[in-house]
Amino acid sequence: MKYVTFENGDQMPMLGLGTWKSAPGEVYQAVLWALEAGYRHIDCAAVYQNEKEVGNALKKAFGEGLVKREEVFVTSKLWNNAHEKDQVAEGLKRTLSDLQLDYLDLYLVHWPVSLKTHVMFPEKGEDFLNYEQVPLADTWAGMEALKRAGKARHIGVSNFNQKKITEVLESCQVTPEMNQIELHPYLPQNELVTFCKENGLQVTAYSPLGSADRPKARKKADDPVLLEHPLFRKLAEKHEATVAQVLIAWSLHRDIVVIPKSVNKERIHQNLQAASLQLDAADMQAIAGILERHRYIDGTFFTEVPGSPYSQSDLWEPV
Ligand code: A2P
Repeated sequence: MKYVTFENGDQMPMLGLGTWKSAPGEVYQAVLWALEAGYRHIDCAAVYQNEKEVGNALKKAFGEGLVKREEVFVTSKLWNNAHEKDQVAEGLKRTLSDLQLDYLDLYLVHWPVSLKTHVMFPEKGEDFLNYEQVPLADTWAGMEALKRAGKARHIGVSNFNQKKITEVLESCQVTPEMNQIELHPYLPQNELVTFCKENGLQVTAYSPLGSADRPKARKKADDPVLLEHPLFRKLAEKHEATVAQVLIAWSLHRDIVVIPKSVNKERIHQNLQAASLQLDAADMQAIAGILERHRYIDGTFFTEVPGSPYSQSDLWEPV
């Protein structure tokens, strides 16, 4: 297994279990299967609405001596409705209570988009707060306080482009240590990855398998299916592996943390085994030759809400 090593020496396994879209009824078992299989990194978020079940699984695993708390790297994310300075600590408190933990290994600002406290998913312009009402610098100052208090050992961001990261860097006392972004061969994010690494941020790839189970509202009829690209089939045959393993190994080869989601025991095992799949330079070159670009999670659920103060340029550089 490859690891990210943070400045204080803490290590984060570069392959973890994703839990976005894992139904509350399934994620408990999935987390236990993952820990039994050898996963030591679980990626969570308040908005996935399944942290209580993840917490129950962690409690069982710790209680039965399957793993110790300090052996598992747990990430979660601050939802957009807790960006105001005095709300950030509340957001973490709820997540820690749901996960039944005293601290997180990594806490991320989930999106550079702010919502009013009572809003989970925006439906109209009034559901949002804009950057004048909640400067990103305020949210980040709240995150820094959590790190200082030891409640989050590491802090970072998610879905931040170069411009947004630069804004945080200009006002911060603690540099964000991670940017979690959509990343796979249709969206290799070469420039953003280089920018992050040059500025001290590690990168985590979400939707590494193309998130075929993303909600219908986030699907378009002509979206390409990543797992069906013929090149990955060819590489999978060459390495006697599966297409998913090739996709996971591709991120690991680039020193990018990767969090494939699964609630299926066999696929949970299969995905972990990708850590020992070595792609060669020719494989990497062939994958780099895929020029088709596609973003599955495009943020239109924020930017296309009537009256939204946010636009696509607040989220992404063009690909
Ligand atoms: P399941 O949970 O039933 O295994 P992403 O990580 O990009 O969001 O992708 C998650 C989707 O990929 C889910 O539909 C998940 O289904 C599926 N998936 C996870 N692992 C594999 C695998 N090894 N092979 C094929 N599909 C997989």
